[in-house]
Amino acid sequence: MPTVIKVRPNGSLLVESDDAVVVDWNGNAYPLAKRPFSLCRCGASSRKPFCDGMHKQIGFCAEEAAPPAATPDGQ
Ligand code: FES
Repeated sequence: MPTVIKVRPNGSLLVESDDAVVVDWNGNAYPLAKRPFSLCRCGASSRKPFCDGMHKQIGFCAEEAAPPAATPDGQ
């Protein structure tokens, strides 16, 4: 099953995977307390790179949805 990263409206990036790992710039893995887990995209978390819910308190706004999937005939 592929890893799914779900962009939450006005919130985090929810990583739905049984085997995804998050590593720092040295390749060291962050411990994961649970799955699925959420990555911060607002920049305000005190637990970066993970979300701690601070996006709600700062009023983070980002609701860009992906474009609709193209149909087989390209429409
Ligand atoms: S997205 Fe949740 S704290 Fe940044």
